[in-house]
Amino acid sequence: MRHLMSPLDFTVEELDHLLDLATDIEKHREKYAHVCDGKKIATLFYEPSTRTRLSFETAMLNLGGSVIGFSSADSSSAAKGESVSDTIRMVSCYADICAMRHPKEGAPMVAASKSSIPVINAGDGGHQHPTQTITDLHTIRSLKGRLSDLTIGLCGDLKFGRTVHSLINALVRYEGISFVLISPEELRVPDYIREDVLQKNHVPFKEVVSLDEVMGELDLLYMTRVQRERFFNEEEYIRMKDSYILDAKKMSLAREDMLVLHPLPRVNEISVEVDDDPRAVYFRQVQYGVYARMALIIILLGLEDKVC
Ligand code: NCD
Repeated sequence: MRHLMSPLDFTVEELDHLLDLATDIEKHREKYAHVCDGKKIATLFYEPSTRTRLSFETAMLNLGGSVIGFSSADSSSAAKGESVSDTIRMVSCYADICAMRHPKEGAPMVAASKSSIPVINAGDGGHQHPTQTITDLHTIRSLKGRLSDLTIGLCGDLKFGRTVHSLINALVRYEGISFVLISPEELRVPDYIREDVLQKNHVPFKEVVSLDEVMGELDLLYMTRVQRERFFNEEEYIRMKDSYILDAKKMSLAREDMLVLHPLPRVNEISVEVDDDPRAVYFRQVQYGVYARMALIIILLGLEDKVC
């Protein structure tokens, strides 16, 4: 039995295979409509979510399966003091696979150690968000045609943004990747990402404050929201929250083929006028996420031989 805690749980070859499967699902939806007949996914969300939870649920429904779960800690027995370990033992009796989001880093890992069904980390605190990463990789590969030889700008809250941490972890394994890390001083990537991931893998990167200065260098710009819920005080958040606002003027500095991604939700960091720019692909990214999660569910449940 396999779990997914970090994008590194899959080798590059396994990820390529998953993305090939996601591409095939997009092209031939009907082949996959009954692969998960009779299977259930439990979505255990102890933290708010719109996209990720609905994306998992849509993915399972598209595969013919069904869905159980809860969407906040308050509506589950966590409010009565039940531990994650006990909850997963119980959920293992009800469902075939589970996706868990939790404010505490490592909580899905604790669940996986007690689980008799595959557990997918759907975001743990400021740590990792591997299924957003497979979504991002699938989007990039589908729209750029490659995951190598790319200069990628990551902009916003690089300190608390778990999507950024997972994406860097995943992309350092491809050839010819370089990063431009754009953030206020206070929101730079954590040391472990800089030292143990970027420097250790000899991946070229620079850390800058100005977005305008680097726009013209980028193949991709990955915007992120300032993660209000992870700040220790509200004043600090208010000071940081509008550090970057991508608008049409900034877009005019970018290459014709630069793509803008965002894991969403957006707050203020992308002006709505950018939405109509053909380079803005964050809503298409949402659709790619469903195919990527369908592929992941099939693989973790070992159902590839069920595809007609
Ligand atoms: C992200 C998350 O939860 O980390 N959202 C998502 O899953 N698409 C990004 C965010 O909340 O800023």
